[in-house]
Amino acid sequence: MRYADPADIKDTFGKNECIKSVFIFLGNYIIALLMIGLFIWMNTTRAESGDFLGYIRSNSSTLIYLSASIFMLFVAVYFYYIFEDKSMLATPKSIWLIFIMLDACILICYFFGLFFNIYARPIALLALLSLLLIGRRDAIFLNVIFALTMFSIDNFTNFGSMIEYENALVSTPLMTFAAGLVAIFVGSRVKTRIRSFLTGFAICIPILVMIACLEYNQGMELLYLMLYGLEAGVLSAALFMALLPVFEVLFNCITDYRLRELTDHDAPLMRELKERAFGTFNHSIVVAHLAEACAIALNEDTALARAAAYYHDVGKLRQPEYFTENQTGFNPHSELTPELSVDIIRSHAKDGYDLIRSKHLPKILADIAVQHHGTLPVKYFYAKALKMSDGGVNIEEFSYGGPKPQTKIAAIIMIADASEAISRTLPARSPEKVESAVREIIEERMDLGQFDECNITMRDLTTIKGAIVSCLSGVYHNRVKYPKLKLKRQEEDSKDGKETK
Ligand SMILES: [Fe+2]
Ligand SMILES: [Fe+2]
Repeated sequence: MRYADPADIKDTFGKNECIKSVFIFLGNYIIALLMIGLFIWMNTTRAESGDFLGYIRSNSSTLIYLSASIFMLFVAVYFYYIFEDKSMLATPKSIWLIFIMLDACILICYFFGLFFNIYARPIALLALLSLLLIGRRDAIFLNVIFALTMFSIDNFTNFGSMIEYENALVSTPLMTFAAGLVAIFVGSRVKTRIRSFLTGFAICIPILVMIACLEYNQGMELLYLMLYGLEAGVLSAALFMALLPVFEVLFNCITDYRLRELTDHDAPLMRELKERAFGTFNHSIVVAHLAEACAIALNEDTALARAAAYYHDVGKLRQPEYFTENQTGFNPHSELTPELSVDIIRSHAKDGYDLIRSKHLPKILADIAVQHHGTLPVKYFYAKALKMSDGGVNIEEFSYGGPKPQTKIAAIIMIADASEAISRTLPARSPEKVESAVREIIEERMDLGQFDECNITMRDLTTIKGAIVSCLSGVYHNRVKYPKLKLKRQEEDSKDGKETK
């Protein structure tokens, strides 16, 4: 799961976290029971001779069985996370997210079943939401739990409108499971909002096939039921698009959609960078290409790597003219002392952090911006200070304040950033020259202990080097020199010119 604020994620699952998670779990179970109570109350008030308390009394054994079934299904979710990912249980927000998502989807499906038709329920909604907000493996498991929960509630609380489609009640688990699975496999490749709606049509396929098989003897009514099935798929996708931003804000999650919106060239900070620091903007785009290639090679989060690269140098917006890529001739550093220059240069990492936070953008981007130079020295101004003094220069006074990269993505940005910058200074950009420059960058950072605080391995660094070299060779490849051709029109023009003389 991806949070905007990494401080939200807790890795330790001790006694306190365990007690807290059990209380949240029980709280959510009570919410589910209250919801079932609401369904029964609604059903009894809709029935002509409805009596809520009478129904509870006469069906007490069924309702106890239903409560126990729901409890077992919820316990299954809890134990899944105990064995698969304890950090989810150690983080109260994520437990709330899982169960609120489950409760909300049950509630929505129940209402559509009650007021429209049992086949019109958006049964793939939970699969889509959990896919984007948590992950594919968890989405498959939660889809199974959702299918079984719906089946239990349907069979033990329904009477009236929904019972007339007995086949639908019995086939709920299989239909929900199949539609959810299609949503997960098709939805994981969805990159744009229009494609999410197309996912809705893909979800319809298993639903329509099952309706046709179950209700083929209904005559003309089958057509109406098929339309309801179509609605179920499209509604799943539409409600997913409507609810996703709500969950993003409520639980402080960042999804691929949000990251893509942030990397749009018209996003406020990107537009400002393009207008006020075009050189930095172009540099960031190339760094994003490199970081994306590295993330793909390491099986890391590509959308996050791309966004982090776009925002890593936004701190330069404070004084863009002091950075080489934005200068068109005059270099203001020629009038400054090396101490003053280095203060301006290294402040861009911290300024980037402050700017990203002040715009309420994901903290993870701010963290990477402040870490992308680690504690490296600004070599150019350190060498200049050494030349101007008698040798007594403290290198720490010419170094960035850190912290060092804390994650693999931050390390990728650090290497990609320096590789892009150095590749511009190479006189000949042959793959061998680029490879040796990138190797030097990585070795220098290793010697200076820049990767000591993140979980990057030697193998990862070799993979990063390979990805950057092949990418940079593509960006700065050699082109054949076009010969100058004398065009026919130019010849005629020059002839006319001679005649008029
Ligand atoms: Fe930078
Ligand atoms: Fe940079």
